[in-house]
Amino acid sequence: MTANTIAINQLMDKFDGHHSVWLFGYGSLIYKADFPYLQRRPASIAGWTRRFWQGSHDHRGTPEAPGRVVTLIEEAGAICHGMAYLITPEVFTHLDHREKNGYLRLAIPITFEDGEVEGLVYIATPDNIAFLGAASEQDIAAHIARSAGPSGPNSDYLNHLASALRELGRHDQHVFDIERHLAALRAAPSE
Ligand code: BEZ
Repeated sequence: MTANTIAINQLMDKFDGHHSVWLFGYGSLIYKADFPYLQRRPASIAGWTRRFWQGSHDHRGTPEAPGRVVTLIEEAGAICHGMAYLITPEVFTHLDHREKNGYLRLAIPITFEDGEVEGLVYIATPDNIAFLGAASEQDIAAHIARSAGPSGPNSDYLNHLASALRELGRHDQHVFDIERHLAALRAAPSE
């Protein structure tokens, strides 16, 4: 699949005619909402887990030296916690551009503490050409430590995400293990 998903996302007509749509954020969207929204609420989705398995060519790395950012991987029984935003359809034009490096919009049930709605999430699937796939948390930390792109150091992305999850009161072993390995690398760079 092409790395630039803007055209594919704009064919998505599932919510055409709706005045507002819930969007589930599990990565930078948790801490960086650079778009207008009507409501913002903690939420979760079932059957997916957050993984630093997507390459970033345009934000936290470059095409020659991609960084690592999160995507969602299907996993039976998993729950991914994040933040949901109620947005108007025009906001998707902005987000399709911001997240054009392999992310496709997918319709998904979003769970709040008081109920469920059908909404959207951006997912980078394993068939996109920027996908990097699994690695140990220690190797992912080393990769993040040496990566940077137009949006800044890859380590800022990881640390902001870990802090935002802590503020939400949510534990994510994968994210927190990478954070721990990165801190150890910074303390003793030869680890
Ligand atoms: C998110 O934070 O939900 C998100 C992550 C990657 C791409 C788009 C959105």
